[in-house]
Amino acid sequence: MLGPVLLAAARSDSIRRLVSAAPVTRPMVDRFVAGERLDPCLDSVAALAARGMQVTIDHLGEDITDRSEALRNRDAYLALTDALAAAGLAEQAEMSVKLSAFGQALPGGHDLAHDNVLPVVEAAAAAGTTVTLDMEDHTTVDSTLAILAQLRERFPGTGAVVQSYLFRTEEDCHALAGEGSRVRLVKGAYKEPAEVAYQDKHEVDRAYVRCLKILMAGDGYPMVGSHDPRMVAIAQNLAERYGRKRDEYEFQMLYGIRAAEQERLVADGHRMRVYVPYGTDWYGYFMRRLAERPANMGFFLRSLVTS
Ligand code: FDA
Repeated sequence: MLGPVLLAAARSDSIRRLVSAAPVTRPMVDRFVAGERLDPCLDSVAALAARGMQVTIDHLGEDITDRSEALRNRDAYLALTDALAAAGLAEQAEMSVKLSAFGQALPGGHDLAHDNVLPVVEAAAAAGTTVTLDMEDHTTVDSTLAILAQLRERFPGTGAVVQSYLFRTEEDCHALAGEGSRVRLVKGAYKEPAEVAYQDKHEVDRAYVRCLKILMAGDGYPMVGSHDPRMVAIAQNLAERYGRKRDEYEFQMLYGIRAAEQERLVADGHRMRVYVPYGTDWYGYFMRRLAERPANMGFFLRSLVTS
């Protein structure tokens, strides 16, 4: 019941101020976010790489309201690219970007987001790494997939994300399952209306499996973004059924979630990529993580009330 409330709160400025000021928030945020600055984030990335994991790094930021913020976010990703190259981490670490942090929701936002993300994708390619475009709420999907298609003309390794809770996603999976395509399949983390998305968890799970089948049967590179043990097991079965080798798909999980399972999959010979967010703009990301997990949410709300 509290999940949708928290997802709505993720977009409220007054609740953002309340949550950000509460002393109990910081240790909770630290579980999910690898620091506010680049240096601690790179330490976490190096530690994960040393344990055989791959990484995708998210410089936190979304829903910006000003063109100058889009430029700051672009520059942060350019600095991140340089830092990955300098640290010799470009092979293990790619980057995840949210186009709303590059101006997608501003007037003329489609072109603005494209023009701001292009230099990042170019710099990533020059450094020997790639970029994946995170998927945000359903109103952004057409624009994000169109920008993806533009970027893939020159940079075919640019990754996409699709969300199984959206009715449209099976069709998108068919369109994206071609050779060279890198597609992260997730269940979806935003509050979406019943006109466009399954509301029932089991429906979302069933859709996830249907999408997995399409991606595993296709010629692209499926990236299985889920902590759900059932989805992980089904992905392994499907990979076997479609004759995929271990380097022809990968698992992805979020920083701080099911770390032991991440280690187990690596020990079992699987490719495991950890999504590592860092930066000061952690509020929306943090609230979506709370909304996903009633245990985290209950603990946090109790602490907020008693602190
Ligand atoms: P779900 O939340 O349905 O949980 C199913 C089961 O998984 C639980 O019952 C439990 O067994 C296990 N589990 C889940 N969380 C656990 C925890 N904290 N500890 C122990 N067990 C746990 N979303 C989006 O809309 N756009 C995006 O671009 C992305 N990007 C993205 C990247 C990566 C790498 C991941 C892993 C996820 C995303 N997401 C996302 C988020 C995604 O949409 C989804 O909200 C979360 O992954 C939660 O869904 P799950 O599939 O993990 O399972």
